[in-house]
Amino acid sequence: MPKLLLAAAQTRPVRASVSALPISRKMVRRFIAGPDSTSALQVTRSLREQGLAVTLDVLGEDITDKAQAAQTAASYRSLLTALSEAGLADRAEVSVKLSAFGQALGADGDKIALENAFTVAEAAQAAGTTMTLDMEDHTTVDSTLGTLAELRAQYPWVGAVLQAALYRTEGDCRDLATAGSRVRLVKGAYAEPASVAHPAKADVDAAYRRCLEILFAGAGHPMIATHDMSLVTEACVRGRDRGDWELQMLYGIRTDEQRLLAAAGIDVRVYLPFGTDWYGYYIRRLAERPANVLFLLRHLNS
Ligand code: FDA
Repeated sequence: MPKLLLAAAQTRPVRASVSALPISRKMVRRFIAGPDSTSALQVTRSLREQGLAVTLDVLGEDITDKAQAAQTAASYRSLLTALSEAGLADRAEVSVKLSAFGQALGADGDKIALENAFTVAEAAQAAGTTMTLDMEDHTTVDSTLGTLAELRAQYPWVGAVLQAALYRTEGDCRDLATAGSRVRLVKGAYAEPASVAHPAKADVDAAYRRCLEILFAGAGHPMIATHDMSLVTEACVRGRDRGDWELQMLYGIRTDEQRLLAAAGIDVRVYLPFGTDWYGYYIRRLAERPANVLFLLRHLNS
């Protein structure tokens, strides 16, 4: 079902009818803070009042030229300045997609993305916060981990996402489970071929558990990003000190549990996307849960 939906989402009619929805519609706003940084800051403040930390994502992944990539980096820099001026940067960091910084722009893509990422890391440092590199489909993993290594040489607190679905990830977890390293462990949201990723959900869940163990056995800072409560429990019972690890969930999913876990003394961070280019992100959220698609279909014509 997720693979089918992700494929259907690339077709023109589906893209046209879903992306024509106004962002103000409840079903879009469930997962997305709003169209601009003003709405993102408002939601960040409200989450903070509920005891939650935040990581902000400026939506956009299908950029086609260098100027757009530079514009995305500029948006992140002004967001970081705004977070700092609003006194929110101690509990809010940023998450970036290297594709939005130019990674896919031909032979120079990696270089362009790295340059843009450096400027955002610099701005994060000035604001007193951190940056984490999102992980996209499997074809980008080597490039993203290469960029991570270059960034960490100067900014050791730059984090990365690893996807349990990929066969390679246990090895990547071992490589990155070192002092100062921030790893956000996720199951993986992209439709991947069986040559590189576990096709069965049960195998992805088992791989997640093994990766979690590797990260907790290491000296880094595990960021356990899942809404799977059996994995959340597994992380919580490991008994690491507060500040040495964190739980992360997406905005709009398991909202009550986010608050309850934070109230129980667990560090919980919410991934909060905003912006007008929300289609790709939104479709991945729908694909994760058939009930979300039914909800969308029921409300499309209402
Ligand atoms: P699973 O899919 O098994 O869901 C467990 C339960 O959570 C479900 O039974 C349901 O109750 C609830 N749930 C999960 N998804 C839901 C949804 N969309 N709507 C409603 N309920 C839902 N992926 C990636 O490839 N690259 C990345 O960079 C990131 N970044 C990222 C950051 C953070 C902070 C999180 C939490 C997740 C990501 N992801 C990601 C997404 C991730 O790969 C994965 O697709 C989702 O987290 C869903 O997987 P779960 O671990 O929640 O488990």
